[in-house]
Amino acid sequence: MKKLIGWKKTRSAVFISGAGSNLKNLIKFSHKIKSPISIEIIISNNKKAKGLKYSNQYKIKKQIINFKNHKSAEKKILKILLKKKINFICLAGFMKILSSSFIKNFKGKIINIHPSLLPKYKGLNTHARALQNKEKFSGCTVHFVNSKLDSGQTILQEKVKIAKKDTSFSLRRKILKKEHKLYPAAIKKILS
Ligand code: GRF
Repeated sequence: MKKLIGWKKTRSAVFISGAGSNLKNLIKFSHKIKSPISIEIIISNNKKAKGLKYSNQYKIKKQIINFKNHKSAEKKILKILLKKKINFICLAGFMKILSSSFIKNFKGKIINIHPSLLPKYKGLNTHARALQNKEKFSGCTVHFVNSKLDSGQTILQEKVKIAKKDTSFSLRRKILKKEHKLYPAAIKKILS
């Protein structure tokens, strides 16, 4: 165990596009005394993202970035992150693909959570596809981000049994519950 004296949390950013249940969960995790991260900023490409409410609720700065021009959006984000001395990024339901030149600035410091047992079901509609293919299990994966979609090295993965009566909705709920355990565990694994 690391000594708590002189313990410095890694200054982190969370990128979201939607509901932000993982964001909320990561904020709560970051408040724990032994958490390896502090969340200094929330970035969203979507001004209507429901998760943005956690910015006010937990007094964390937010920035909404228009991605009409991807390159300049990333440039703006980079500037903000450098100014805030961010050196760790958690993607949590962020619906934009970061370019390799952006990723290069944070080598091994950007992670993502995906609701499937990667390498299966990269991309969108994972639950519907898993159900359609009559999979017995699905799950979630936390992985390092590289320039290919949902393809970086796995940090942690957790299985969820698919029940006969599961729908995309029920499966999503079951998996989200697991995600909320897995994401903090993955952060601890790589930063503690
Ligand atoms: C989660 O299922 C996550 O795995 C995926 O997008 C969803 C985001 O949910 N990348 P939320 O916005 O954190 O509630």
